Amino acid sequence: MCGIVTAIATNNVVPVLLEGLRKLEYRGYDSAGVAVLANGLTRLRSTGRVAELAALADARQLSANIGIAHTRWATHGVPCERNAHPHISGGLAVVHNGIIENFEAIKSSLQARGYVFESDTDTEAIAHLVHSKLATTPDLFEAVRLALNELVGAYAIGVVAEADPFRAIVARRGSPLLLGVGEEGMYAASDTAALLQVTRKVIYLEDGDVAELRLNAYRIVRPDGTPAEREMHISSLSADAVELGQFRHYMQKEIFEQPQALGNTLEIIAGGGSVSPQLFGSRAPEVLDGVRRVLVLACGTSYHAGLVARYWLESVAKVPCSVEIASEYRYRESVPESDTLVVVISQSGETADTLAALKHAHGLGMGRTLAICNVPESAIVRETALRFITRAGPEIGVASTKAFTTQLAALALLTLTLAKLNGRLSEAEEARHLGALRHLPVAVQKVLELEPEIEKWAQRFAAKHHALFLGRGRHWPIAMEGALKLKEISYIHAEAYAAGELKHGPLALVDKDMPVIAVAPADELLEKLKSNLQEVRARGGELYVFADAGSEIAESEGLHILHMPEHYGMLSPVLHVIPLQLLSYHAALVKGTDVDKPRNLAKSVTVE
Ligand code: M6R
Repeated sequence: MCGIVTAIATNNVVPVLLEGLRKLEYRGYDSAGVAVLANGLTRLRSTGRVAELAALADARQLSANIGIAHTRWATHGVPCERNAHPHISGGLAVVHNGIIENFEAIKSSLQARGYVFESDTDTEAIAHLVHSKLATTPDLFEAVRLALNELVGAYAIGVVAEADPFRAIVARRGSPLLLGVGEEGMYAASDTAALLQVTRKVIYLEDGDVAELRLNAYRIVRPDGTPAEREMHISSLSADAVELGQFRHYMQKEIFEQPQALGNTLEIIAGGGSVSPQLFGSRAPEVLDGVRRVLVLACGTSYHAGLVARYWLESVAKVPCSVEIASEYRYRESVPESDTLVVVISQSGETADTLAALKHAHGLGMGRTLAICNVPESAIVRETALRFITRAGPEIGVASTKAFTTQLAALALLTLTLAKLNGRLSEAEEARHLGALRHLPVAVQKVLELEPEIEKWAQRFAAKHHALFLGRGRHWPIAMEGALKLKEISYIHAEAYAAGELKHGPLALVDKDMPVIAVAPADELLEKLKSNLQEVRARGGELYVFADAGSEIAESEGLHILHMPEHYGMLSPVLHVIPLQLLSYHAALVKGTDVDKPRNLAKSVTVE
């Protein structure tokens, strides 16, 4: 989704703005732009990469002490220079991340007052609205605040004005934005990574905050103009964590970081640690007491993590669990139950649908809430009673990998905690499960060693247009995750089915051109799965089977097998997703797609 950088400093801010945009590229974008104040307002926009915008800025020798910059992920209007931000009204410029739902009404009323719109965006309405306020409220800060009070929807914005060149105004509601307090000046950006170049001192704005940035001061107010105090944090994010290092792509780096990410996430149970409600926050004993069911709300890969957890929660903790796509739940009439623990799962913690689903659950009176999230200060984490922060480190590649496996680790801990609270976990069982969790990083490392063989398989996939993924039980969501990964980054159409469903329809699709990937762990469903595989072979389908060590499935013409190093019981989904991540990564490499920034997608989906 769109990324924003704002800077006011004693030195030239253009390199800071552009480097900030470079760090935000991972969010996904289709155009970029910058506006600075230096003897008037100068705006540059490009429909290409940030590097092209930087080249334009170089050619123009752009230099200034104040400016705003933006990467745009199109929502209103096609990607083109005319729609790229910043948008200008008179001498003021605005960048915006989010969606203004009432922009058409605002646009009509502004047009009636003589404002001419040059773009198809909702953002231009903000620029003209602020400008219109200046007619009666000459103070820029006040004009922005009053304009924002008329907006319905989500925004993070940055504003600069020719007539007021010593301050920048920023604000947020629904979309992420944080301030950076530096030695040379004040900054704001959509995430910390964009500001590490200038400061580690960050202030997370709350929904509705409007802030003014001056060279060496800032102030924050609420929508009604009352002053607000916000805590300053020192970011511990390392600059290296967002660098590629020896890897070709972030996705590859993040796949290979999984042993470390899991080790960090599970550090709390290292050594003699055991499961306890406190893993989920100080209020957990009270919030988890009396929980009789779990409702998971999430999107995409995080939703798949929830689907795996359903199998664990029901079989190990004996707690009924339902898992819903957040965008469906938020608009559905559902029956709230006060003994339900609502678990929201999100890598970014900013996904608009997941946040809205959480608020919807709150609105229904469901106060027992838990966030499983990778970003400690994100909006979602700030809204829940309990939280578990996965320690995957920043995930830059649009395709979620290490976030998924660390979410599974967190969900395994939740399962064991609820099982223990419900008297369903003996000491011996707890010790066995904890042993398996502690060994997980090593087990994942061994699976990663299969990469060369998977690479060979990927060569054969790249020419295909469709693929089917099969799994059963807790590995069905893994098949779904494999299909999502493949379509997301290689653009090969892929669908996942519970293998037992094959003969109820999808078998009709199977022929020699339809590769079928099967997740085949040596569990209680293996024999059933083998019958499903026979059904595929009998129709000439080519099978690629990820089996466990010792599984007796014989390789034959059209049936390729790759053996995982070991069978991993309850946690087997964590291992079985790894080869599917690698398969999609290598298929995408062969196809030459933009692995880390697949077309049309964004990393943080901060709009509905
Ligand atoms: O940040 P979140 O976990 O809330 O994001 C949810 C989905 O947008 C995300 O998992 C998406 O499906 C990934 N790109 C999949 O790889």
